[in-house]
Amino acid sequence: MDLGIRGRKAILSGASRGLGKACALALAQEGVDVTIVARTRDVLERTADEIRAAGVRVTPVVGDIATPQGRAAALEACPEPNILVNNADGREPGDFRTWTREDWISALDTMMFAHIEMMRLTVDGMMARGFGRIVNIVSRSVKIAQLELGLSNAARSGLVGFTAGLARQTVARNVTINNLLPGIFDSDAQRRHVEGMLEGSGKSFEQIWRERALQNPAGRFGQPAELGAYCAFLCSAQAGFVTGQNLLIDGGSYPGTY
Ligand SMILES: NC(=O)c1ccc[n+]([C@@H]2O[C@H](COP(=O)([O-])OP(=O)(O)OC[C@H]3O[C@@H](n4cnc5c(N)ncnc54)[C@H](OP(=O)(O)O)[C@@H]3O)[C@@H](O)[C@H]2O)c1
Repeated sequence: MDLGIRGRKAILSGASRGLGKACALALAQEGVDVTIVARTRDVLERTADEIRAAGVRVTPVVGDIATPQGRAAALEACPEPNILVNNADGREPGDFRTWTREDWISALDTMMFAHIEMMRLTVDGMMARGFGRIVNIVSRSVKIAQLELGLSNAARSGLVGFTAGLARQTVARNVTINNLLPGIFDSDAQRRHVEGMLEGSGKSFEQIWRERALQNPAGRFGQPAELGAYCAFLCSAQAGFVTGQNLLIDGGSYPGTY
């Protein structure tokens, strides 16, 4: 299927590795020019070279999307994006008794406010031009609280709550906003998460990794390319009637029927 977005321009944050990179690759394969943002220059530049093989224009922007400077740099590189994929770090597991106000503000900045700011800075232009696709990479934690990930449970719920209202105000101008909710994916963040579970578990990394895979109905981790393809479809010309949705991609691990 031709997704009908050849020649469109996208900004993707958190796009040098893992899920964000997979979204950038999938969009590039559909002929979208991509501006990719991340903080670590050498990894970002390697990824940019890899994506260029798809034959599109790739602009790497070194910056922290959780800061006003990072967001300004992204928009300077791509002032009129047609597609916005918001992504950044999650937070490590922990106990809420130890979290300070600064921990909370930093989590909100990264998992909620950065995404909302990027939407604020781009959505009116998309509506004026009559096309826009916004995808937030969130987490299954908004459907199934992850007991050890309180900062993520809370900050990401704020994001999807806000998005639910905004998405209904933009769709009449062909601007959709959806949230992708990944379950367990094979990525650097997942590896860090498992490393964080080692202490006191009496188990090895490989043991926990294997157990997590087997606990999933699919018996495995998701591959980032699977999420990238889903993201590309949500950004397609054909997806204009899908908005305000929280879309799980988790191998069926969410146990509810609805
Ligand atoms: N993988 C999973 O199983 C899973 C499941 C549920 C939710 N998630 C969430 O999905 C998101 C992506 O996960 P992932 O597995 O793809 O992570 P990853 O492999 O660690 O990749 C994260 C990417 O985002 C960039 N990044 C992080 N913080 C940034 C910031 N403030 N500004 C700009 N770029 C930033 C990183 O590059 P730099 O570090 O160089 O900036 C990297 O390119 C995370 O929020 C994660 O918590 C992942």
